[in-house]
Amino acid sequence: MLLKHLAAYHLIHERFANTYALTPYSRLLGGPDLGGAITTLFEAWIPTFVHAPILFEKLGYVRPTTSNQTMLADATGTTGHIFDYAKTNGALADGFDRAMRAFAGLMGDWVDVVPIEEMLSSSLSCMDGRVLVVDVGGGYVRIPLGHDLHKLVHKLPLTRDRVVLQEQDYVIEKALPHLDGVKGMVHDFFSTNPVQGARVYFLHHVLHDWPDYDCRRILRGITSVMAADSRILVVDLVLPPQGATKHETTYDLIMMSALGGKERNEGEWDVLMASVGLKVVKIWRSDEAMDAILEIVLV
Ligand SMILES: C[S@@+](CC[C@H](N)C(=O)[O-])C[C@H]1O[C@@H](n2cnc3c(N)ncnc32)[C@H](O)[C@@H]1O
Repeated sequence: MLLKHLAAYHLIHERFANTYALTPYSRLLGGPDLGGAITTLFEAWIPTFVHAPILFEKLGYVRPTTSNQTMLADATGTTGHIFDYAKTNGALADGFDRAMRAFAGLMGDWVDVVPIEEMLSSSLSCMDGRVLVVDVGGGYVRIPLGHDLHKLVHKLPLTRDRVVLQEQDYVIEKALPHLDGVKGMVHDFFSTNPVQGARVYFLHHVLHDWPDYDCRRILRGITSVMAADSRILVVDLVLPPQGATKHETTYDLIMMSALGGKERNEGEWDVLMASVGLKVVKIWRSDEAMDAILEIVLV
């Protein structure tokens, strides 16, 4: 009965009467990492979406404007963000990390999308102690796949030991044994960035977690230490003005309900950046990735 039900939803393939086979998708779901998405579904998303109508009514049918006003917080009786909730729910933390790793494996490599060698060229051979790339909120779940910074060090060996992963203390602790060629630094991204004048400040899947108010706090922590030739690279979705895909709208809904965050279109990115004295100068895209990379400079 259960197998028939799964086949009706095309999760498995009904080859003959009472004979079933895995599809590529169900094979992935049964694997070590994407299975984590199922855990997050039960620990976070299902309780959250069941609760959605209550919070929508409370908020007057507008988007939450702070990250404490989330459906997840309301539904689970906690305060704050999914990252806070995950600290108290080991199954969610583990499932979330595994799901993030699975999804990360489906994305293209950022170093193949932006001309990073050209961007760093004037500093690459100059050993003046300047940091080349700071990965702000860089996480550790990608480490087994090749972290964003390791991809850079692999492509441009001159960047070795000149790139910094900034994260919360417990994340740095987990990442530390794997940080070959990358410096680890505990940093709360709501405070002023301790790395002055890096060539690139990199924010991958960070800003979409937060409403505009918090994004401005994160960005101001960087703008106050940028040099004239520093850049910010933001890896996130850039929603089309019309015809967003179901993946894009699902991400937007999850960001809103779990974090008070949002996916943004080009106009929303422009307005956000302009509000803190920044300007989007280029949006880099690749056919292999859903995300775009926004190149941002001081005005
Ligand atoms: C969605 S994950 C993205 C991680 C990584 N950039 C990636 O793309 O895999 C967001 C990251 O922000 C980090 N984070 C959350 N609050 C933070 C804070 N106040 N300061 C620094 N990092 C924080 C989390 O630990 C988490 O790793």
